[in-house]
Amino acid sequence: MSTELDPQAVKMFGFKVWTYKMGEQVSLMVYLGDTLGLYKTMSSRGVMTSHEVAAAADLHERFVREWLLGQAAAGLIDRHDDGSFELTDVQSAVLADEENSINFAAGAFRGGVDSTVLHKIADSFRTGVGMTYQEQGPNAAAGLARMTGPWSRLALTSTVLPALAGVEDKLDAGALVVDVGCGGGVMLTTLAQAFPNSRCVGYDPSHAAIEIAQARANELGLDNCDFVAAGGEDLPAGNDIDLVITFDCMHDMAFPDRTAAAIRGAIADDGTWLLKDIRSTGDFSKDSRNPLLAMFYGFSVASCLQSAMSEPGGAGLGTLGLHAGVAQELTQAAGFSQFTTHDLDDAANLYYEVRV
Ligand SMILES: C[S@@+](CC[C@H](N)C(=O)[O-])C[C@H]1O[C@@H](n2cnc3c(N)ncnc32)[C@H](O)[C@@H]1O
Repeated sequence: MSTELDPQAVKMFGFKVWTYKMGEQVSLMVYLGDTLGLYKTMSSRGVMTSHEVAAAADLHERFVREWLLGQAAAGLIDRHDDGSFELTDVQSAVLADEENSINFAAGAFRGGVDSTVLHKIADSFRTGVGMTYQEQGPNAAAGLARMTGPWSRLALTSTVLPALAGVEDKLDAGALVVDVGCGGGVMLTTLAQAFPNSRCVGYDPSHAAIEIAQARANELGLDNCDFVAAGGEDLPAGNDIDLVITFDCMHDMAFPDRTAAAIRGAIADDGTWLLKDIRSTGDFSKDSRNPLLAMFYGFSVASCLQSAMSEPGGAGLGTLGLHAGVAQELTQAAGFSQFTTHDLDDAANLYYEVRV
């Protein structure tokens, strides 16, 4: 090592790198806490000993105790001076309450990446061609559905739809709704439940995602919901769709322009296209104000950019690539002239109301 290096600077930088390794380990622990039901077990139960947590979760105390100490070290649960533990209400809202909390996050943790998928990600650096979501495996679709699920179920109808001109009334009366890139179908089934007079159709080229979406619709007993395993570019022209939604998926498409053109051909002249995409500016310095920016680039390399480069010549927008400027250009080129940005108190996304 060069003698010119400042040993203190090297030490501090090493510490920074190791904090990411700690993040990897803590991520795995969050996944285990979610999968083993430990957070749910502790939720609303107040102070508990490790023996009480283990007994309530029907797990071995020694492993549970190690997990609890690690969670306390990470600041994710509280440890009291007498050695007992507690999942507070605030912690529970983020780690346990998937049903009612819009801030629930534990479902986003996947316990690492399958080694086959990891090798394919590395390969994409060599070949320039990435994986589709289907190729990223069923875990990807299931994980995404849980990651975006709480927001979809709890904010879509209460916060987002009321911001759009005339859309709720149309859906109440009975409209045709198409969700392009519907993934695991949480958004579409939420709409189908809220608007039983409307017909809701989901498109996604990932069979794994469509299977999850169809199972969800069946489980909810919905008969106004259909799913098609196809891309947005395959939407049949018909000029009759009242509401098209594309949520966090235009930046994943190899050819978003083809989907935008298909949406133009399929949407009614007085229809609305609600495009939700990641909040970014196209300027790295400005985006750096986002303390989670590195996570978004990680999502991109591992998932979004994979999909956006899954065909030779793909646009390759990636997670942060569809900012307002790109979205407006894309929709205008497809024949839409109205473009309104809605900032709806969603830290990760912006919402664009697009009309002919
Ligand atoms: C990040 S996920 C978002 C899923 C869902 N909309 C959500 O918000 O949870 C992106 C989805 O886009 C889908 N996708 C990729 N290329 C597509 C295309 N050409 N047409 C439609 N969907 C596409 C993927 O299969 C994946 O399910």
